[in-house]
Amino acid sequence: MEVERVQVLAHGNLHELPEKFIRPAHERPENTRAIEGVTVPMISLSLPHDNLVHEISKACSEWGFFLITDHGISSALIQLLQEVGKEFFELPQGEKERYANDPSTGKFEGYGTKMTKNAEAKVEWIDYYFHVISPASKVNYEIWPKHPPSYREVTEEYNAELLKITDKLLQLISEGLGLKGKVVRSSLGGEEIEMEMKINMYPPCPQPELALGVEPHTDMSALTILVPNDVPGLQVWKDGNWVAVNSMPNALFVHVGDQIEVLSNGKYKSVLHRSLVNKESTRMSWAVFCAPPNEAMIGPLPQLVDDKNPAKYSTKTFAEFRHRKFSGIPQ
Ligand code: OGA
Ligand code: NI
Repeated sequence: MEVERVQVLAHGNLHELPEKFIRPAHERPENTRAIEGVTVPMISLSLPHDNLVHEISKACSEWGFFLITDHGISSALIQLLQEVGKEFFELPQGEKERYANDPSTGKFEGYGTKMTKNAEAKVEWIDYYFHVISPASKVNYEIWPKHPPSYREVTEEYNAELLKITDKLLQLISEGLGLKGKVVRSSLGGEEIEMEMKINMYPPCPQPELALGVEPHTDMSALTILVPNDVPGLQVWKDGNWVAVNSMPNALFVHVGDQIEVLSNGKYKSVLHRSLVNKESTRMSWAVFCAPPNEAMIGPLPQLVDDKNPAKYSTKTFAEFRHRKFSGIPQ
């Protein structure tokens, strides 16, 4: 099936944004500017343990979002990850199309571009590459880019590092909720937790003030760990305003996703966020979704529910949650 790629469109020297990308007035960046003078929390993982638990708990309940530094991933590895991803998107178009996904038939992994469902719906100014990176039993290397040849090795190494960081974050989050360190991770499936890579590619856009790279959403994951290139664009929603997240060399961006909000019975917030695009520069970001396996039953942790704090969310499998979210069915 022929899909019109945003990268191809952008390359064609467009002067005007095609209609399907023009957001309604109330969504346009030009009418919904970020507030000045507010910055997102930034947390060093080298803080003493108790401080770290406190800082992360505060950021999860007040923002659902924070940056981490001193996380142990070398800047050299982050740079390699970005290089191999960029090289994939620089391949000839025909080469990339060999990896095309097809969400309409359930083939979510691979090279993709969102399509309009109907004439009124708007689309985002983005192409992406999505694939599972762990656990090993769920990985299909056939779907991973074969070019550049180092793609696999670099991505596997990044996955190994991120697994250590997500384990640590889940432990800190668990303790912040007043629970034993292992509770949250094991409630999310323990060793079965899935890590999924989504490389977001936002080509230069002729009228960025009218478009969005990603429309406002919360992530379905438990946590999302994202690293952007040096082009800014991510904004998070805080107390009724958009707050721009400035790029910060080598910091990792941590989003609290829907599954942590549910497990914590709403104490921690799944952050609403969006991304803007840019007239001159290509923005890219590498988002890794850390999510439960399909069959995991996710609901408010019983330890956090009592007569005074009744469950605010229903318990269901992650597969059911995802189905409802994709179909617009209330949870
Ligand atoms: C996402 C996302 C934002 C960004 O992939 O879910 O929100 O900064 N990306 O690219
Ligand atoms: Ni997101």
